[in-house]
Order: sequence, then C-alpha cells, then structure tokens
Amino acid sequence: MVVTEQPLSIVSLLAALSYALDLTEGQPMGHAIRTCLIGLRLARAIGLTGEERDNLHLALLLKDSGCSSNAARMFALFGGNEILAKQDSKIHDWRRMHEAIQFALRHAAPQEGLRKRIAQLKELARQPVRVMDVLTETRCTRGAEIARLLGLSPDVSSAIYSLDEHWDGQGAPYHRKGDEIPLLARIACLSQTMEVFATTYGTTRAYQMLTQRSGTWFDPELVRAARAFEHDTVFWDGVRNQPEVLLRLKTSERLHQQVTEASLDNICAAFARIVDAKSSFTGEHSVRVAEYAEQLALSLGMGELRRATLRRAALLHDLGKLAIPNLILDKPDRLTDDEFAQIKKHPYYTAVILGQIPGFGRITEIAAAHHEKLNGTGYHLGLTGDKLDIEMRILAVADIYDALTAARPYRAAMPLEQALAILQKDAGVALDPDCVAAAEKIAYQEPPLALAA
Ligand SMILES: [Fe+2]
Ligand SMILES: [Fe+2]
Repeated sequence: MVVTEQPLSIVSLLAALSYALDLTEGQPMGHAIRTCLIGLRLARAIGLTGEERDNLHLALLLKDSGCSSNAARMFALFGGNEILAKQDSKIHDWRRMHEAIQFALRHAAPQEGLRKRIAQLKELARQPVRVMDVLTETRCTRGAEIARLLGLSPDVSSAIYSLDEHWDGQGAPYHRKGDEIPLLARIACLSQTMEVFATTYGTTRAYQMLTQRSGTWFDPELVRAARAFEHDTVFWDGVRNQPEVLLRLKTSERLHQQVTEASLDNICAAFARIVDAKSSFTGEHSVRVAEYAEQLALSLGMGELRRATLRRAALLHDLGKLAIPNLILDKPDRLTDDEFAQIKKHPYYTAVILGQIPGFGRITEIAAAHHEKLNGTGYHLGLTGDKLDIEMRILAVADIYDALTAARPYRAAMPLEQALAILQKDAGVALDPDCVAAAEKIAYQEPPLALAA
C-alpha cells in the first residue's frame, strides 16, 4: 500500500526528524546527519560489516531521541535556558573542574537577580549525584527505549544507551570503561563530539580536540582511524555543505527500503512521545490530541485514508515545541510578549521539519495549521477560514480541547462542561461549528472523550 505521496524509506524519515532532535540539543540543524556521516566514515575505516554500519547509521540518527526527557530536569537544575546549556555542554570539557564551574556560572538562572543565582548555584553544588550522571541517565535510557519501541536491533539501543560513556570510565552515567562500552557507542561518542567541534571551529580544531581527548574520552584506536581521513577535504566539504545528499549516497540498500504503514505509525507515535516528554506539563498531549482528532473525524464521516493522514499530523503537530526552551514552556506565570512570540514560532518549526520529509506534504500542511483560526486571529500564518480545510479545523479543536482539559503550569485541569462552553463560545467565530458540535457529541459518549485526562 502507498502510505505517503512519494516513496519514503525509514532512514530518510528518521534523517528528516533528526532535525527536531538537533533543535532540542541547541545544535544547528543537520547535526545528527553530519555525525552520522563521520561515524559511517569511521566504521568503514575500521572495517565494520554492512549490518554493523546499518545499526550505527540508525543509532546516530536517533542518538538524541531521549534528549527531550531531560529538558525539564535540566531546566529544574539550572533554572535557565536549557537549550543554551545543552549547546554549551557539547563544546566544553565538563570533566575539568574549572570548566564545570564556569559552565554552572553561565547557566545557573542567568536571567535572575544575584540572590536567586546564588541559590541556584548552591542547589547545583548540593546535588548528591553528579549533575551530568542524572542528565545523561534520563537521556540515554529514554533514547534506547525509543529505539526498542521502533523494533530496531538491540545493538542500536545499546549504542544509544552508552553514548556518553568515556574510554577511561569518567563518562556518564554508568562510568563504563574501555571495551565494556559497545563499539558502536564509542564511535557515536567520538563522532558527535567531532561534529560539534568541526561545525563550530573547523576540522583543524576538531582534530586537536581528538588528540587531547584520546585515551580519556575516546578509544585511541578510533582516534587513530579518524586521523586517516583528516585531510580528505572532499569528505569534509561534503559533510559541511551537502550532508543530506552525501548521506543518501552512503545509505545501504537495506535501509533504502520503503517504510510500511505500521512502521510509519510507530515512528510518528515515537516522536509524539519525544515531544510530550519535553515538558512535565504536556504529559501525553500529542497522543491524546491524535486520539481526539481521530474520533472527531470518525464522527464527521471521514474515510480511513484521510483519517490516517490526520492522525499522523496530530501526533507530530507540536514537533516544533522541541525548539522552545522549557524556561518558557514550563513558566508558571503569564508569558511576556517576547516569550509568547517565541511560543508562536513552534508551528513554523513543525512546518520546517516535516516539510523536509518526502511525501509528507499533506501531513505538514495540517500539522502546521493547528493554531490557525477561522477569523484569522491564529498563528503562525494568520490564515482565514477559506484556507483551512476540515482536517485543519478538526486538529485545531482537538488541540484546544486537550489544552483546556489537561493541567497547565499556570492553571489546573478544567472541568469538561467549562471546556465545552469555551469551545462553544468560539464556534463559528474562531473554530469550526461542526467540529465543536462533534466534540460535544463525543465528549459524553462511553468511554468519554477525555481518555487520558
Ligand atoms: Fe501547538
Ligand atoms: Fe498542541
């Protein structure tokens, strides 16, 4: 069965979705893809088999899939913009005491006054477990779990699980050492650090870093193998300038296979969980919105194929939230105009990420329009009713319904009657009246609409 408008392989889907993970890590888009190219080059240099290279390929695209799970924790620990802190942690050697102190000084609630900052620093110093262990444990465990949920090889999940372990046992979170760390994880650790340095400072500095950290962060054998392509300017130019094209050329036959209906659903559901994990206040928002949207579509008589597209768009609608710091997402007070302007960008990021996926044209259009309103007061484009089709209107109602009935940082969950009254008020003005009527109808059916509220 044709599941998307154009042929789509699992690996090109994961490559496009990896842009969302890059944003959460504060990395320039394409970080995971460039890391993948460096890793594959290294794998070829040390003679890994085709199957091992394929597993590495998948592990490197998904390596940061647990990254949203530690965003709320990182924000709680530092009290500042966790995306900037994550970005900074990739450049500095946090194992050196003076760099760790400077890092804490830079990121402990920088937007607050001196008293609050000192309190935040004290809190950091008081942590019984090293901050890095806590953060990487959440990230690696969750990332490995997502690879398992997608039915990928155990070698893919174990590579992600040990991604931040170091050759000398001083990495995180379990302080594994030398050969105890799976080879694919050792390659992944080296490749991701190499990519950040090569992109930020150029390859010369990246190779200097490699030499400095050989035998501490990295397996010395892998460092030796990486030196073999230090002066391959064609390779490094490709990594820098056309990583997507180069990665397509390096993709094996097996990974080029067309995605199936079931694996497409699995991947959309996995990324919905990644988005939902970003903030403790969004819980299972994307998963619930997909459920509500499907029920509304069924009630309005929509056919199965269109419902499948709507469901996938609903699962991925808030993907762009991965680019918004928890400092704003989890703010318990009213947002400032500037903060709200940042929140309003998330459907734009959703469109940018999904727009890279071949055959995702309809899914992108629907997902990116979830905050648009019939009267043109929505965002991010301010579209009016004549531009909003039924799928977009359903998704808008499902999204608001869940936003109202779930708890938020600034208010408790709202009772069903009150939520429906708010939808009613907007029916025919900002929201589609048929969709609101359908929401009312199914709100009182058994089992009730608020499945996971
Ligand atoms: Fe949204
Ligand atoms: Fe949403």
